[in-house]
Amino acid sequence: MASVDLSHHLSAEARLRKPTAMKEIWRLASRKPNMVSLANGDPPNILYPIKRVSFEIASPSGDDPVASWKTESANTPTQVIGATRDGPSVLPVKKAMQYTNGAGHVETQKAVSELAHAYHHPPNHVITLTLGNGDAVTKCFRLFGNPGDHFLADEFTFSALVQAAIPQGIKWVPVRMDDRGMIPERLEEILTSWDAARGPRPHVLYTIPCGQNPTGSTLSVERRGKIYELAQRFDLIIIEDDPYYFLQFPSSDATAAPKSTPSFVSLDVDGRVVRVDSFSKVIAPGMRLGWITSSTQFHEQLVALTDSSSQHPHAFGQIFLSELLGPEGWQLPGFDKWVRGLGMEYKRRCEFFLDLFAKEVATTGFAEAIPPEAGMFVWTRIYVEKHPRYRKEVAGVEGARGPRTNCKKLMEELFDTCLDEGLVVMPASIFKVDSDPHYTDPEDNIEDRLNYFRLTFCGTEETMRTGLSTLGRGLRVFFAN
Ligand SMILES: Cc1ncc(COP(=O)(O)O)c(C=O)c1O
Repeated sequence: MASVDLSHHLSAEARLRKPTAMKEIWRLASRKPNMVSLANGDPPNILYPIKRVSFEIASPSGDDPVASWKTESANTPTQVIGATRDGPSVLPVKKAMQYTNGAGHVETQKAVSELAHAYHHPPNHVITLTLGNGDAVTKCFRLFGNPGDHFLADEFTFSALVQAAIPQGIKWVPVRMDDRGMIPERLEEILTSWDAARGPRPHVLYTIPCGQNPTGSTLSVERRGKIYELAQRFDLIIIEDDPYYFLQFPSSDATAAPKSTPSFVSLDVDGRVVRVDSFSKVIAPGMRLGWITSSTQFHEQLVALTDSSSQHPHAFGQIFLSELLGPEGWQLPGFDKWVRGLGMEYKRRCEFFLDLFAKEVATTGFAEAIPPEAGMFVWTRIYVEKHPRYRKEVAGVEGARGPRTNCKKLMEELFDTCLDEGLVVMPASIFKVDSDPHYTDPEDNIEDRLNYFRLTFCGTEETMRTGLSTLGRGLRVFFAN
């Protein structure tokens, strides 16, 4: 199946970037098995002071390996994976430690590619290893963004990355969300009513489809289908940032088949989806490894960018992944068992959190939790309109184009009250995507909808207990003033 030619989406920077000449020569060295090279400036591998790398890891045996791992005892099964200098191993140390291709060592790419294909069956896509989703998404912004371009995003999003694009000259256009994530009809409205005076219509959509950060929402299959159709109709690139994909909660119905929401990339017949995955939430954030699934055309561009910047992912992580997914490691069935265990564990934690929330916070009558289906976060709505000093003015509290309510100010006060009580939360304001005030509907200003906190159930039970009882107390204090 051929992908559509989408090269017109490439930024001026990407078009100007030439493949790194030295890396091109270096690639020639792998043309034949016994090519003699007097070309590369690699330190002789005999001088690498590393003979063996080994990792003792959890063994994915038993029904719920994550549950037995977290209650670690002398009997908790472990296994050792690793590599020696000369092998035999999937990726021997002397090879792993050399300079390599921007997409990573072929052995690791192959292992990760098999994993990506097992979950997403992408129609016509290839894998590029990355240093995690932060690295991957910001590289994608550089691939597609010219100064003055407009990009679309969930109206509340992982702001660290959105902010990274602003110095590049990208302007963000927030898409309205509800409790189930981005609303396709609102995306359509933006695209159909685009005012050409603003500049070219947005051509990139950045979205977090599962356990969204910060709202915890997961896009339904139906919404994904509609958004993909809009991407085809309006010629959008979709950057699918999905670090919480493997933290989807299993169905409560034990007889139901394991849930697997089709990703955007699995729908992508055109090559317009660039999917971004991370090992940060599956193995550990310090792994600093992830991968992009994209069309070959965008893969080549990403490799050129990496070749001339970070060069390639680090060898220790590539050894780890190659062995983890290789014949001596978990392989795909073991990996699948582990991530299903993670899904169950996060679901258990979430249920514990929501039970406590019902007792400690909902009983105040001032807040509700929106239950997620994946990820780490509970979007918590504060009934700010019940506050005695809440104000709503038809003319707007900051003029006709500004917000109509004092929601933002009251939420700042509530945040301070929580701090005074000894609790830190993430306020909605830090995740909002600012829109051009000239094109903001005064009846629907995001500043009037900042009455949310992002809370996490990643902490210990004790943290959740103390945190939620403090929140309940903070709400009572705040609403009494
Ligand atoms: C939506 C989203 N994207 C990207 C990242 C960064 O992930 P990584 O550790 O893979 O760089 C995070 C981390 O919290 C995230 O929530």
